[in-house]
Amino acid sequence: MSSDFVIQLGPCQLQLLKGDITGVAVDAIVNAANAQLAGGGGVDGAIHRAGGPDIMRELDEIRSRTGGCETGSAVVTSAGRLPARFVFHAVGPRYRDGQHGQPEQLASCYTTCLTLAAEHDVKTISFPSISTGIYGYPLEEAAEIAVKTLANWLRNHTEPVRIVKLVQFSDHDHDVYRRHAQNLRREFASGAHS
Ligand code: APR
Repeated sequence: MSSDFVIQLGPCQLQLLKGDITGVAVDAIVNAANAQLAGGGGVDGAIHRAGGPDIMRELDEIRSRTGGCETGSAVVTSAGRLPARFVFHAVGPRYRDGQHGQPEQLASCYTTCLTLAAEHDVKTISFPSISTGIYGYPLEEAAEIAVKTLANWLRNHTEPVRIVKLVQFSDHDHDVYRRHAQNLRREFASGAHS
């Protein structure tokens, strides 16, 4: 699956792709998990189906040690049969009203995973559209948060992350992400962020 939209940020690229994240080869795949780390439907179900049972065995062990994972944070497992070394299981906010820290929690999913990437020498990482399925976060708001948070992080921290792939599952989602990424590219080109 090739990327059809790229923002170049110094030595790093932010790429947009449409398709199934479980088929995209990277060092780390980000999952949209829940605080219980219990698996589910959506991209979580797809990752466990494609990756096999080792991933859940590792999550069981993490859950028994820590009780789960806070919203806005993430835990690391190996990737089983997926074309990756790691899965970062990020817990996005369940949308209520866009208040009560939900935008910050969503942004924190992205920055936490990039921090984990740096700690695990991850050069390529893929993200689904966290919280915009079962958790009901409005796509427009979530896409803007995802694109801006990732681009700002990449402009300020480079090593070791080189390529961030944002993977949308539908044409509609892909169009919305593209629009937000295009806006951001225009802002960078005009120097609004320098
Ligand atoms: N590849 C890429 N994206 C996918 C895939 C896939 N194989 N399957 C689903 N998606 C997309 C959805 O279309 C949506 O845009 O991932 C996005 C996130 O949707 P969800 O998976 O529903 O995640 P989220 O909204 O964060 O809800 C998390 O759902 O599966 C449960 O255990 C999970 O309780 C947690 C909750």
